[in-house]
Amino acid sequence: MTAIGTPLSPNATRVMLLGAGELGREVVIALQRLGVETIAVDRYDNAPGHQVAHHARTISMSDPDQLKALIEAEKPDLVVPEIEAIATEALEELEAAGAVRVIPTALAARLTMDREGIRRLAAETLDLPTSPYQFCGALAELQAAADAIGYPCVVKPVMSSSGKGQSKLDGPGDVAAAWTYAMAGGRVSHGRVIVEGFIDFDYEITLLTVRARGDDGEVDTRFCAPIGHKQVDGDYVESWQPHPMSEAALDNAQRIARTVTESLGGQGVFGVELFVKGDYVWFSEVSPRPHDTGMVTMISQWQNEFELHARAILGLPVDTTCRTPGASAVIYGVLDAEGVVFDGVDEALRVPRTDLRLFGKPESFAKRRMGVALAYDDDLDTARRNAVEAASRVRPREGAS
Ligand SMILES: Nc1ncnc2c1ncn2[C@@H]1O[C@H](COP(=O)(O)OP(=O)(O)OP(=O)(O)O)[C@@H](O)[C@H]1O
Ligand SMILES: [Mg+2]
Repeated sequence: MTAIGTPLSPNATRVMLLGAGELGREVVIALQRLGVETIAVDRYDNAPGHQVAHHARTISMSDPDQLKALIEAEKPDLVVPEIEAIATEALEELEAAGAVRVIPTALAARLTMDREGIRRLAAETLDLPTSPYQFCGALAELQAAADAIGYPCVVKPVMSSSGKGQSKLDGPGDVAAAWTYAMAGGRVSHGRVIVEGFIDFDYEITLLTVRARGDDGEVDTRFCAPIGHKQVDGDYVESWQPHPMSEAALDNAQRIARTVTESLGGQGVFGVELFVKGDYVWFSEVSPRPHDTGMVTMISQWQNEFELHARAILGLPVDTTCRTPGASAVIYGVLDAEGVVFDGVDEALRVPRTDLRLFGKPESFAKRRMGVALAYDDDLDTARRNAVEAASRVRPREGAS
């Protein structure tokens, strides 16, 4: 049974978001609508989620002492990681002591922040199909591993996201530069990389997978319709739902997603990233939380991925039904400046059947995601075109100072 208290009273149901970017912000909004008291945490002030939560806290979440002190002071019922760069050892310690429940579990947060943890689980323990891979801790090792795997291949720091420090290698001559680039681009300098065989896929999808309580009280697995996406330099620029798939490919995708999320356990939304060629599906990686490409569900599903996450973690029923074909297109900062102004918002929303989210980030960078345009249409291609058109009409500029 789930009971929810009154926010800001002694019986409040309190949820702490670790990471208060655009994804965390939407989870906060979904929780607020259910009468949950929210504490948004990020490493800088006035993060998107800070602006909509009951409480805003600024700490370095990769510092175990700071993280532990904050959780012990706030005593949330649930801790919900929104980003990977978190001192997960502190979460494991608090969870083991019974001091807090981590979503989906502290172990899942640790395994998925490290490519080595999740890849070995998926390929070696669960026997799921993945690209061929090796882990390396030195340039000479990488040279040998890349030669063994063959070219083209992809090198990534074990701890990184959004394509940082990642490169594609076309021959042995590219290895040294890839090593240097990975060492500079990793989150914390771990001196370790994965080299993966390059998969010549037809398309890639995110399969949002929800572990939530069913009517019988047991946790079961639900799938959203597959989300297609386009990546540029390791960052998603467009996504759409539903991505058309053969029945066999969808079956394989769901089987892989079920296996990996059941193994990680807990409750909540997972973004399972998969490569598809014909009916064949490879596991790539998984986020134990809503996924950036899943922002399209804010227009394409009855319950978007943030609402699904909020419901699932609270033990409430979920509905993963797709309502209409839809698409999302990213709005970048274009310039490096604080307090930017967005021109053309009215023109953007004049594109039929569109909507917009501006995240309210205090500082813009040329390649920082500042907003997203959403579109729906019975025809998926029209939705995609309209999302891109709406996004292009929003023009960030320097504010008057
Ligand atoms: N082995 C591979 N073969 C072909 N393409 C790949 C391979 N690995 C990665 N890619 C491409 O690079 C993109 C980013 O890779 P990956 O998801 O591993 O990195 P990431 O830094 O975790 O990115 P994000 O945090 O945005 O998910 C993939 O979505 C895919 O388009
Ligand atoms: Mg990825």
